[in-house]
Amino acid sequence: MAERFDLTVIGTGPGGYVCAIRAAQLGMKVAVVEKWPSFGGTCLNIGCIPSKALLHASEMFEEAGHTLPQLGVEVGTPTLNLSAMMAHKDDTVASNTGGIEYLFKKNKITAFRGTGAILGQGRVKVAGEAGETEIETTNIVIATGSVSAGLPGIEIDEERVVTSTGALKLDKVPANLLVIGAGVIGLELGSVWARLGARVTVVEFLDRILPGMDLDVAKQFQRMLQKQGFDFKLGTKVTDIEKTENGLVATLEPAAGGEVSLLETDVALVAIGRVPFTEGLGLDEAGIARDPRGRVVTDARYKTNIDGIYAIGDVIAGPMLAHKAEDEGVAVAEILAGQAGHVNYGVIPGVVYTSPEVASVGKTEEELKAEGIAYKAAKFPFTANGRAKAMLASQGFVKILADKETDRVLGCHIVGKGAGEMIHEAAVLMEFGGSAEDLARTCHAHPTMSEAVREAAMGLGDGSIHI
Ligand code: FAD
Ligand code: NAI
Repeated sequence: MAERFDLTVIGTGPGGYVCAIRAAQLGMKVAVVEKWPSFGGTCLNIGCIPSKALLHASEMFEEAGHTLPQLGVEVGTPTLNLSAMMAHKDDTVASNTGGIEYLFKKNKITAFRGTGAILGQGRVKVAGEAGETEIETTNIVIATGSVSAGLPGIEIDEERVVTSTGALKLDKVPANLLVIGAGVIGLELGSVWARLGARVTVVEFLDRILPGMDLDVAKQFQRMLQKQGFDFKLGTKVTDIEKTENGLVATLEPAAGGEVSLLETDVALVAIGRVPFTEGLGLDEAGIARDPRGRVVTDARYKTNIDGIYAIGDVIAGPMLAHKAEDEGVAVAEILAGQAGHVNYGVIPGVVYTSPEVASVGKTEEELKAEGIAYKAAKFPFTANGRAKAMLASQGFVKILADKETDRVLGCHIVGKGAGEMIHEAAVLMEFGGSAEDLARTCHAHPTMSEAVREAAMGLGDGSIHI
């Protein structure tokens, strides 16, 4: 008689591995199925972690050349050792994915290597190098994530025409990089290669960068990137990329149609979004519903239309973020254990890990306007923050949006060094339904960048002190 599991999780990205660990901690007998050689999914292998390793390393390279001399630290002209930088990235990935393997063992989670397919309620088939195995399980969680969206007619070779996966392992710095899509991937990976010496042109379909982020922040951030050498072609689409002996020739066209132009480049990064991944999972055979965008449909408790089968992370609706997937993983494990698992979708921070960083939580000003919510807004610039000046980091601002009547904080948007850390004080405040006055009256250590968050909140009351 085959071993029977309480829960089988298909996919070990941040959604799947966190769900498996929490379920094991709550007393369930858990199996995971993973088709890749290492655990951790997109995020640990080809996403969050390798991109942050390269973002950090390239920022250090840039600072060594530009910021350190201004601080009186003369290091001469820095030289790039790209293979050492890539080795740092690979070591970081290996150490993180190895950590998941350790956690699975520690929590007595059984790992099946191979592609999982759902045969029906309580049955998962795993096809791996060692042949086929069938798992019997009470519940199944689908956590198969997402893959890069393709551009019709444009063939990806991951060497010259790349997705983020290829852009994380280029073997030399391209003289010219064309980025298609001014979203998070385009701007983060564009930053990596721009800092290392590439001339970066970003072609964006819309008339703005970072759709979904507060427009004020996006506009200011675009100006900052332009100062860093980015060239933006907004309201433009790429309709073709021809591979020539010497490089690539892209055909650009106004988004609304019109006269085409040609752009020569060495490498093109297609970063126009990601799509849910369910190939080979047997969803149609098992009768599991998907929406028109291919996402697995779930109810508010992550259950699909079939009892005992749940889904979380990038493969379902909502922002495609690692921490959203993780929180859903915890929530579904708790629900299966009879607890009240819950995710507050109103308070999911988003961070763009560029230099400076961009961070956001809650509503944008555009969303508040569209929803007809009466609000008040205040901004505090880092030029008025002592610590920022001392660190040559006075670019950017903190913007806080609060309900006009109740003073409850509805959104916080930051562009500036360390924005991705500072945003969490607004997130915690919002999770507890706090007001701008609560934030303004909380003593903040001096001198810190976070004082700017408090000062922005003060601006919604009797006024900021330092502007
Ligand atoms: P995934 O991480 O995609 O994992 C899915 C797993 O399922 C994979 O391991 C896959 O091999 C496995 N799988 C799929 N089908 C099967 C099957 N049939 N059988 C067995 N295994 C299967 N998010 C952030 O929050 N912060 C960031 O800084 C960030 N940076 C990113 C940078 C890049 C370049 C990219 C591409 C993404 C980034 N993201 C970031 C997004 C983040 O990676 C995803 O939101 C997150 O990984 C989603 O987690 P998941 O568990 O839903 O799926
Ligand atoms: P995205 O959705 O952030 O941005 C895609 C951009 O491409 C948009 O600005 C869109 O208008 C544009 N676009 C779409 N079609 C186009 C076309 N044909 N021509 C030109 N522009 C076009 O998607 P991205 O950057 O690919 O990232 C995918 C996902 O990965 C995102 O959902 C993001 O949340 C996640 N991610 C998160 C990171 C983080 O949290 N720091 C880092 C990287 C990725």
